[in-house]
Parts: sequence; structure tokens; C-alpha cells
Amino acid sequence: MKAIVLTQYGSASDLELKDVAKPTPNEHEVLVKVHATSINDWDWCLVRGTPFYIRLLCGLLKPNIQIPGAEIAGEVEAIGQNVTKFQPDDAVYGDISECGFGGFAEYVCVPETALAAKPESMSFVEAAAIPHAAMLAVQGLVDEGQLQPGQTVLINGAGGGVGTLGVQIAHEIAGENVTGVDYASKFDSMHSAGFAKTIDYTQTDFTQRPQRYDLILDTKTNRSIFKYLRVLNSRGTYVTVGGLTPRLLQAFLLGPIIRLLSGKNVRIVNLKPNKDLAYINNLFKAGKLKPIVDGPYSLSEIPKWLQYFGKGKHKGKVVISLG
Ligand SMILES: NC(=O)c1ccc[n+]([C@@H]2O[C@H](COP(=O)([O-])OP(=O)(O)OC[C@H]3O[C@@H](n4cnc5c(N)ncnc54)[C@H](OP(=O)(O)O)[C@@H]3O)[C@@H](O)[C@H]2O)c1
Repeated sequence: MKAIVLTQYGSASDLELKDVAKPTPNEHEVLVKVHATSINDWDWCLVRGTPFYIRLLCGLLKPNIQIPGAEIAGEVEAIGQNVTKFQPDDAVYGDISECGFGGFAEYVCVPETALAAKPESMSFVEAAAIPHAAMLAVQGLVDEGQLQPGQTVLINGAGGGVGTLGVQIAHEIAGENVTGVDYASKFDSMHSAGFAKTIDYTQTDFTQRPQRYDLILDTKTNRSIFKYLRVLNSRGTYVTVGGLTPRLLQAFLLGPIIRLLSGKNVRIVNLKPNKDLAYINNLFKAGKLKPIVDGPYSLSEIPKWLQYFGKGKHKGKVVISLG
């Protein structure tokens, strides 16, 4: 089978399209014929071996993951003898980042627990854009953020995967008062995803404005936590899904003290892959959630589009189609 292979840490141009052996599922796995996959921050970090914790997880000097790719959508081709949830030909999708990656390939073996049935009305391309970013968004807004009807929400770093799905989840729970912060070139796709207001971070620092929010969901975490607290309503909540390591550490260490002294909450999402896919399937089937897709592009073009993703030029999710 064809796959995009990573042999050393470096840059996106070190990735190579190669012929590799088609995998065989063990007793708890299914073999998925991949129809679509997508590019994530995981892949960008993995290919470069940075930040440093990536090397602690994936090999100090050399990556022990050979095929990146964290999200897949495809059809079950074969099942292991203990698999009960799926049958050959079932259409499935999921985040496979906790099962060794491998989505940038024509086939991948995955534990059945990492997959959900794909609704018929959801295309493979749409399905590949959903699981990772949607779980970060729903776990950020609902599990950590405890979002309530009528609350005001701001999403920082809103033009990517988490933001463009997060705004749709926020609409469903809280209403339409959602503000997104990103670069102005993304405003069209952000408005089509549902943002009522947009702020260009190159022109305006939202933490210096008078507007206050009940919930801030942050995909960038590029400021001191104290700046975010300024624009939170009393008892408001700041939730980070990721960003700069020193800023994340600050949020982690000071969060409990901040809550004690100010009543404001500081929360960090610890992603539970695929946990809420049933909820997302229901939103999708009800016509309340649609991913913004950048692409789809082809498997052989992944190095180019990974570089594009790393430069932050994408809108929504960069999807690769193998169909
Ligand atoms: N918590 C966990 O367990 C976990 C697990 C995996 C991943 N993650 C994290 O989840 C996040 C993924 O979010 P995502 O998929 O939505 O990322 P994304 O697609 O890269 O979107 C981020 C957006 O932020 C914009 N941006 C860049 N600089 C900005 C700034 N200074 N202010 C505001 N916006 C800015 C980018 O656009 P421009 O660059 O064009 O401006 C981009 O549109 C990452 O931080 C990742 O590390 C967390």
C-alpha cells in the first residue's frame, strides 16, 4: 500500500510517499481502508520533533511512529476474531492518535474502540475533519467550560478546526453570541461557520477591550493567564485546549489559586479521543454541525499541505482524500 512515511525528525519535506506492507489486524483490531484523513497539530509537531515532550512520547532521537495521521474516515475491510462492534464494509471514522497514528496511508489497523460508525449523510471527507477537533471543542466548552444557555463565548484561534466546530457547538448550547479571534483572511469561513463577531488579532488585542465574556476557549494560549482573566465576567471560565508550553504550565499551576482568590475558573482540556462522537453524530444528523474543509487534497501532496498548515494558512480542517 502507499503511505506517507516519517524516518527522521526534521521538516515536512522529509516525509516520503512510499510503498509499505499492508497491515494485518490483531484480534481486537479492524483493518480500515482509509478514504480520507486530515492534518493536525499532532502531525506538525511529530514531523518536527518539537516541542520537546513530543520526543519523550515518540522517540528521543528518531520517531518511533512511522506513519503520521491522527484522524481517519474509511471502510472496514477486515476484522480481528474478537471484534464485535463492526463488520466488513461498515463506514467508520475516529481519532487514532492514541493508537499509534497511521492515517496517512491507504490502510490502517485500529482497535475497534477508537472508531465510531459514520452517519450515512456525512461524507468521508467531512468525517475526517471532525473527530479530533470536535472532541477538543466539546470537551472544552461542555466538560471543562460547563457552558450554559445565554452565556457569551469568545474563541481565540478561532479559524482552525476547533474554532469552526466549537462555534457550532456553542450555538447549540448557549445561543449565537460567539466571538472569534483570528487573522482577517479567515473571517469569511469563520462567519460561514457561525461566528457573530470576529476580531483580527494582528489589529486588536481582545484582552485590552472593554467587552467581557462568560467563557473563553483558547487554542493558542499565547498570553499570560492574567490578561485573559481581565476580560472574563465574574465566575467566568477560561479553558485552554493547547498552546505555548510555559503559558499552559502557568495556567495549570495558578488555576487553583486564581479560583480561590477571584472565583474565576482556569481549566485545561485533557483530550479523551472519540468520547463524544455519538453527541457529534446527533448534531450532524440534525443539520446543526458541518465542518469547514480546506481541500480535499491528495495523499502525495501531504508534505506541501502540512507546511501550509504549519504556517497557519488553513481555514477549518485540511483534509486529504484517498477516494
Ligand atoms: N488538550 C489536549 O489534550 C490536546 C491534544 C491535541 C492537540 N491539542 C491542541 O489543540 C489545538 C488545536 O486547535 P486547532 O486544531 O483548532 O488549531 P488550528 O487549526 O491550527 O487553529 C488555530 C488558529 O489560530 C490562529 N492563530 C495563530 N496565531 C494566533 C494568535 N496570536 N491569536 C489568535 N489566533 C491565532 C491560526 O491562524 P493564523 O496562524 O493564520 O493566524 C489558526 O487559524 C492546538 O493548540 C493543539 O496543541 C490539545
